[in-house]
Amino acid sequence: MAFDIEAYRRGAAAVPYEDLDFGAFADRPLSDGALRCLRSMSDIESHTICYLRDLLVTPSHTDPTITTFLTMWAFEEYWHGEALAKVLEAHGIPTGDQHIRLVRERLGWRDRIAPIQQAIAANIIGVDFVAVHMSWGAINEWSTHAGYGRLAAREDHPVLTQLLERIIRQESRHAAFYASQARERLERSKLARRLTRFALRRFWAPVGASLLPEAESRHLMTFLLGDEEGQRVIDQVDEKIDRLPGLQGLGLVRRAAVRYGVCPQ
Ligand SMILES: [Fe+2]
Ligand SMILES: [Fe+2]
Repeated sequence: MAFDIEAYRRGAAAVPYEDLDFGAFADRPLSDGALRCLRSMSDIESHTICYLRDLLVTPSHTDPTITTFLTMWAFEEYWHGEALAKVLEAHGIPTGDQHIRLVRERLGWRDRIAPIQQAIAANIIGVDFVAVHMSWGAINEWSTHAGYGRLAAREDHPVLTQLLERIIRQESRHAAFYASQARERLERSKLARRLTRFALRRFWAPVGASLLPEAESRHLMTFLLGDEEGQRVIDQVDEKIDRLPGLQGLGLVRRAAVRYGVCPQ
């Protein structure tokens, strides 16, 4: 079914969290492992505007449906970062502008030239690059959706679960947009299929890998995917990728999990 962009732009909203009982974390705090995951997740969500910076220099910016989506998407992701920061704050973990600035500065000069490199490569490729962007987005939204689901299940904390369920509902809509665009663009262009397959195989890494220190990415993967249910989730995301035209058999998530030592070869 085609994605209803009109309904999405009208319904886009900051995830509500003011009504949640954050005081409940004082009686029953989250585990250290979960808080470490939330730190990374909040940092990733708050970095969305920088991902958007890198994408608007590509041919994706010429498509008004895509830019309408990206406008709302960046807004919703911003509030995911804020909502997760609220949970960290309730545990006495520092958040706010000073922290976000440090996360961005830590990335150094490579991050500053990234949009220039991306602009050159993507504009040489032309409109077929949009299929790479949309497929990448779908995979990352599926991964994020799965990650929040695993965190809620592992911690089984009523307030965290309530918040994550609200965020997950928005992540589902993000995934639906990216996947519908990816499917359409991959179906109609053989070059887009070949290019996307190549780019994913060569460059894809789990969400946040370009932002987080290696040890934090490893912790995130291990905490969320290291158990039996995590192994099932790895296969589920890979199966979703398999269903996109021309992307069968990549095994991206499984390969990343092996690389991070989360599962055997
Ligand atoms: Fe998000
Ligand atoms: Fe999202």
